[in-house]
Amino acid sequence: MVSFKDSEFSIAINHLEQHEISCEFPAWVIRHQKEVFLLAYRMGLKLGFDPEQLTDISIAARFHDIGKSDIDPAIINHQGALNEDQRYIIFEHVHQSYHILRKKGIDSKSILNAVFYHHENFDGSGYPDRLSNEEIPIEAQILRIVDSYSAMLGRRPYQNAENKDSQWAVSQIEQGSGILYNPEMVKIFLEIGRPLPESQMKSLQQSDFNGVLFKTGNSIN
Ligand SMILES: [Fe+2]
Repeated sequence: MVSFKDSEFSIAINHLEQHEISCEFPAWVIRHQKEVFLLAYRMGLKLGFDPEQLTDISIAARFHDIGKSDIDPAIINHQGALNEDQRYIIFEHVHQSYHILRKKGIDSKSILNAVFYHHENFDGSGYPDRLSNEEIPIEAQILRIVDSYSAMLGRRPYQNAENKDSQWAVSQIEQGSGILYNPEMVKIFLEIGRPLPESQMKSLQQSDFNGVLFKTGNSIN
């Protein structure tokens, strides 16, 4: 199991604080972003990412859904199946996230690829480009798993409280291995520590995770 040392944790937070973008999200979204960030960072460590790769996966994890800030909350929080128009709007959020980050000066290919492709499925059934297998950038494969896991734990207000323990969520990830997720990445995911200690979530809470300014000094709003 990868140990998530305090020093590594501090480094990760420092990376984020240098790359903050001001954006208002509800508390459950912020919690989800933190969880995705911490889990993606742990997977990066386990995969032997170098500091630059760890920075990139941290930033990508933090901002992968920033494009959702432009979507009507009624659609984001919609219960049940979406109609075709609503689905199109949701699918568009990866384009929006990509363009927002480009506009803010992010030009790292690994960050942009992770954000743009984080809904691609291993079997080619995802979006936006129906990439499959190794065509999907590794950073996006990581986000695909940790984003799903965190979402399944019921952070959204419209989800009920049933079946929301981490073991159940892990079993769902295992069931998606080879279909939604790269089996090799699932193996790595199973080796990292979960659920996340509340102490780490609290540390992140104390850092200005929601951010004020991007390092260029420009507010996104
Ligand atoms: Fe997303």
